[in-house]
Amino acid sequence: MADSTPQGQETLSNLLHESRSFPPPADLAAEANVKADAYEKADEDRLAFWEEQARLLQWEQPWDTVLDWNPPFAKWFVGGKLNASVNCLDRHVDAGLGDRTAINWEGEPGDSRSITYAELKDQVSQAANAITSLGVTKGDRVAIYMPMIPETVVAMLACARIGAVHMVIFGGFSSDAVGQRLDDSQAKLVITADGGYRRGKPSSLKPAIDEAVADRPTVENVLVVRRTGQEIEWNERDVWWHDVVDPASTEHTPEAHDAEDPLYIMYTSGTTAKPKGILHTTGGYLTQVNYTYSAVFDVKPETDVYWCAADIGWVTGHSYIVYGPLANAATIVMYEGTPDTPHKGRFWEIIEKYKVTIAYMAPTAIRTFMRWGEEIPAKFDLSSLRIIGSVGEPINPEAYIWYRENIGGGNTPVVDTWWQTETGAIMISPLPGVTSGKPGAAMRGVPGVVADVVNDEGKSISPGEGGGFLVIREPWPAMLRGIWGDEQRYKETYWSQFPGLYFAGDGAKKDEDGDLWLLGRVDDVMLVSGHNISTTEVESALVSHPKVAEAAVVGATDKVTGQAIVGFVILRGGEESVPDELLQELRNHVGGSLGPIAKPARLLAVPELPKTRSGKIMRRLLRDIAENRDVGDTSTLTDSTIMDVIAKQLPQKSS
Ligand code: WT7
Repeated sequence: MADSTPQGQETLSNLLHESRSFPPPADLAAEANVKADAYEKADEDRLAFWEEQARLLQWEQPWDTVLDWNPPFAKWFVGGKLNASVNCLDRHVDAGLGDRTAINWEGEPGDSRSITYAELKDQVSQAANAITSLGVTKGDRVAIYMPMIPETVVAMLACARIGAVHMVIFGGFSSDAVGQRLDDSQAKLVITADGGYRRGKPSSLKPAIDEAVADRPTVENVLVVRRTGQEIEWNERDVWWHDVVDPASTEHTPEAHDAEDPLYIMYTSGTTAKPKGILHTTGGYLTQVNYTYSAVFDVKPETDVYWCAADIGWVTGHSYIVYGPLANAATIVMYEGTPDTPHKGRFWEIIEKYKVTIAYMAPTAIRTFMRWGEEIPAKFDLSSLRIIGSVGEPINPEAYIWYRENIGGGNTPVVDTWWQTETGAIMISPLPGVTSGKPGAAMRGVPGVVADVVNDEGKSISPGEGGGFLVIREPWPAMLRGIWGDEQRYKETYWSQFPGLYFAGDGAKKDEDGDLWLLGRVDDVMLVSGHNISTTEVESALVSHPKVAEAAVVGATDKVTGQAIVGFVILRGGEESVPDELLQELRNHVGGSLGPIAKPARLLAVPELPKTRSGKIMRRLLRDIAENRDVGDTSTLTDSTIMDVIAKQLPQKSS
């Protein structure tokens, strides 16, 4: 996330009108884990509500104070002690659920493993013993740089078990990015693998670690899982996982940790500045991920099979592959590879194979699947699905409807979940058994979360009044406890724009019913002839035209209008330019749905859009192109060559 400040202009214009809505299926509503009364209960006494949710966990010592709020510093469940790994494993095994499958793992080449709760507990205990024998103790930082394999989950839970702070680094990051994070966190141990399978072949991980640790003596050991068997260099500090974890004892007596003991650090992508090490602690975090996982996905752990397609290197993977699902004793699916290996139906094949009932993925993936065509998912039996979720970006109505129809069979609720690395857990989302979902809306704060939209003076916007800045009014249990090593930056980034309110950096609008629609990052907002226009709304309008598969728009400096809207579109037929007729048609289409002010001035056809590795469009780079500037730092892109490809499509720079 980029650091962002509201611009002190009039608040966002509210242009998009979407009136479809889908009530929950009657049987789902009748059996839902969370019903409408949860909102009332939480409103009546928010702290008592969160205490009730905390009691769903196993505490070794109860808390004395539910919340100690010294703005902007919160402590939750003060005095309480618990162990996150025990909550995800031991208590389920103790309750007789040891034989339940915890992880159905699918490797990209088609190999698979199924691991029960009892087996996972044993493996985590072995890993806890092994990393202890390597000298890791409570409070130490452990970097994890791994492919999507079960050992990654084992490593995280082993850290949690002994109170070491894990710091998972996305496997796609370069050795420089790894090094920066090792310096900032002063990690003592790195856990990695020789490599993992991606796009049909082994891709390496170990060389990036070798490079990053070479001149970093604070790293005492590198623990290496053998996944691919590829050739790797072997250094003095290196230890094979199978040499120390496999022979270790499966007996490990966990210690109870303070509710406020650090659980992990997760670096946010930081598209502009130095990445921020977002700190999460134990009790409040686990309380909210445990609750929201049950409430938003309505999971029935005895029968559901849940699959989150995110990478564990992102917060989504932490909260909704590992901690939320396992705390609920759910059965998860975990997939190592890419969606188009060996064919473009891989995701749907996985859903069919494991009879997945709940699936969670990003809008960027959904739009890619739209582009590949609905005949691909149509070849698979997806009838097991009963809830499908979306996260990471605004889901435009067109993608929502496509997802609901083609993946959800037309009767499966879509939960559009808004949250951030910083919030730790889902904050705004429909509840599948309560809410009539609107395509494109994340709806409202989950019970216990007070989300609001304010104008540039920090005043709450009335329903139907329009757009503004998304804020959170009250502290919540899973909130970040700060930025690792940088208190000042924590205060400035999130708490300085509106006194007493957490400012998320996103624009949003509140419709007539009081429901919330996310409008993208405020630093992406375009200012056209005095109107703040959201990129999300214009992109949604473009994508709702049958010829457009994906779109990104930016505001480019314009002498007349301040900024002019420039759109980059991927056309469904793969055309390399936008013919004049189509340009007119698309401009009119946008004008028809949003009004003439939102008509793009220019439209460029591109084969791909620049995206971060977590799937967010990097509009900053497109703005460089639209304003004929040299393109800035592209190191966080999935594919850095894409900017050259896009630049080639454009008329030559005129200066
Ligand atoms: C930013 C946070 C949440 C975990 C993955 C991303 C955007 C996220 C939604 C949504 C509209 C969304 C926001 C937010 N975002 N979910 N459902 N609708 N926008 O975590 O990398 O920390 O990014 O992602 O802009 O601020 P992150």
